[in-house]
Amino acid sequence: MKKLIISFNSSYRQYTVNEINNLCRQITKENFIISDLSSDVIVLEFSGIVNYMEFSELVRSSTCAFIRHICPVDFETDNYLDMAAKALPYCDTELTFSIQTRCLTEEHKTSPSEINKFTAGELIKNGFTLNVKNPEQVISIVTNDEVYYVGISNARLNLSNWPGGIRHFAVEKEQISRSEFKLLEALEVFEIDTDNFKTALDLGAAPGGWTRMLTKRGINVAAVDPSKLDARISNNKNVKVFQEKAEVYLLKNVNAKFDIIVNDMRMDSNDSCRLMNEASHYLSSDGYGIITLKLIPEKLMKQIGKSLEILRNKYDIVGVRQLFHNRNEVTVAVKRK
Ligand SMILES: C[S@@+](CC[C@H](N)C(=O)[O-])C[C@H]1O[C@@H](n2cnc3c(N)ncnc32)[C@H](O)[C@@H]1O
Repeated sequence: MKKLIISFNSSYRQYTVNEINNLCRQITKENFIISDLSSDVIVLEFSGIVNYMEFSELVRSSTCAFIRHICPVDFETDNYLDMAAKALPYCDTELTFSIQTRCLTEEHKTSPSEINKFTAGELIKNGFTLNVKNPEQVISIVTNDEVYYVGISNARLNLSNWPGGIRHFAVEKEQISRSEFKLLEALEVFEIDTDNFKTALDLGAAPGGWTRMLTKRGINVAAVDPSKLDARISNNKNVKVFQEKAEVYLLKNVNAKFDIIVNDMRMDSNDSCRLMNEASHYLSSDGYGIITLKLIPEKLMKQIGKSLEILRNKYDIVGVRQLFHNRNEVTVAVKRK
């Protein structure tokens, strides 16, 4: 049996299980077992020839929204002190490493940082090079205090560089809204490099968190919202404010092209996607779009399906994810067709 660990938001467990079932049926005719390790972590066991890379590629190429982080299980142990020695055969000395420990119990015997420090120290003694920020291999440890599940993989295969996909950002004193984190997380998860971006259109920009994040990266922003933006944003010389609805702005046919269009409008997700489609001709040919779909719990799957169908008229879907910083939302990244 091969095992892997899947993390998600506990409120969306059933949807995550449905996604896992669909993926498993595509990949294997053999049995698979889903068991809960905690309210937001599942262990998936396969028989047969399924490998971790194959599973990861399937998740990444699909429109799974609720699987937030995965990691393989190469071995299990009940003692973290022998973990490094047991991990050695699975690690490549030529590659830099980091250790990511996630403890699922609130009161744990040993803290994640102690486990990380001890295990990293043992690997360094064996000639390995630690690179916490940009590791070439990650040693993922998930524990419920009884069993340590340990797996070694390339961080990219895990869907997120953070244990369990739990991404924390430092709060800046200039922060305008917590929504800022949603945009930062989306850019990271969907691997959107903004270095060469010069212009952005922000639909539903108020109070201005996303616009602030974009201007911080040197991008000029057209910020559209009938509500007022925070004065620190509306007074920014790199921001052009359109205090009106997106519907009105998009009818104007302004002569502009944007490297990225972001849309966090609080409205019905299908309507929001239709407006996103209307905005598509403003997007430069290799530009990206990011949109949050506000979800209604009772019709969530239908809603996501319909919204993606609408977006596909004008865009290719890069990814869909219920991000750590999303509340009752999922975030979609798109590219122009
Ligand atoms: C969640 S807030 C956006 C937060 C913003 N991303 C930030 O970081 O500060 C949603 C916004 O959508 C705006 N909105 C709702 N309907 C809109 C429409 N038709 N056109 C433009 N904006 C709209 C609301 O006025 C509200 O400011």
